Amino acid sequence: MTASSPETVRAGGADLAAPQLLQARELTRQFGRGRTAVQALRGVSLDLTPGQVLAVRGRSGSGKTTLLNILGGLDLPTGGSVRINGQDLGTMSDRQRVLLRRTTVGFVFQSFGLIPFLTAAENAGVPLRISRAEARARDERVMRVLDLVGLTDHAEHQPAELSGGQQQRVAIARALAQSPQILIADEPTGHLDTAQGLRILGLLRQIADSEGTSIVLSSHDKRVVDFADTVLNLHDGQVRGDLRASPTAP
Ligand SMILES: Nc1ncnc2c1ncn2[C@@H]1O[C@H](COP(=O)(O)OP(=O)(O)O)[C@@H](O)[C@H]1O
Ligand SMILES: [Mg+2]
Repeated sequence: MTASSPETVRAGGADLAAPQLLQARELTRQFGRGRTAVQALRGVSLDLTPGQVLAVRGRSGSGKTTLLNILGGLDLPTGGSVRINGQDLGTMSDRQRVLLRRTTVGFVFQSFGLIPFLTAAENAGVPLRISRAEARARDERVMRVLDLVGLTDHAEHQPAELSGGQQQRVAIARALAQSPQILIADEPTGHLDTAQGLRILGLLRQIADSEGTSIVLSSHDKRVVDFADTVLNLHDGQVRGDLRASPTAP
């Protein structure tokens, strides 16, 4: 579980070494042109293996959201590449990228993004409705992900009846509905108090360990070090050294 590892050995198109789940190489992202251009990323490379928790830390404006959006295929880099399961996102069609986001990557945001008039169970099931999963399979999966996030008892509650931490759990359940290999969480604790934030970080760690889901999360919180395998410090769009953290039991 390192932030960078040797290139995978290829022979006859097959990976001999354990395949990297995600490889990002020399990512750059420029917004705007000319005098108002902003270099949000300046050459970021990282690797992600199954079950790894990678925390991206940095001040506001350091490029965390830009990086996470590019890793998950929501945005394309100006330069560099992202490969997921060996497939280069830059050469995919828009349609293929949409499919990838639906099946391989799950997103969690700071602001939860739940639909207010749906229950926790209905919110968690939204991706399965979009993909037209069969009703029974959908219900089973929804119960499983609500159980994973510890919300079985709140399945019928609407977001307004839940605490911030519980709402974020619903959002995590929704992100897990399609059994993604990668969960991308952009400041998932940003709107939570200290105790609820810690519990969410502990939950993400637990999901990585029990489900083998790889997690990329951003935070400006020092405590993420305790929950991540790797911490990447971003500074003005550049990595200021990554360090391997030793995960502690939450
Ligand atoms: N869509 C955009 N258009 C122009 N500038 C942007 C856009 N998105 C981000 N930026 C700029 O890129 C830099 C990095 O932003 P961001 O990735 O949101 O950082 P963080 O998530 O660490 O706060 C900032 O200077 C921000 O203003
Ligand atoms: Mg951000």
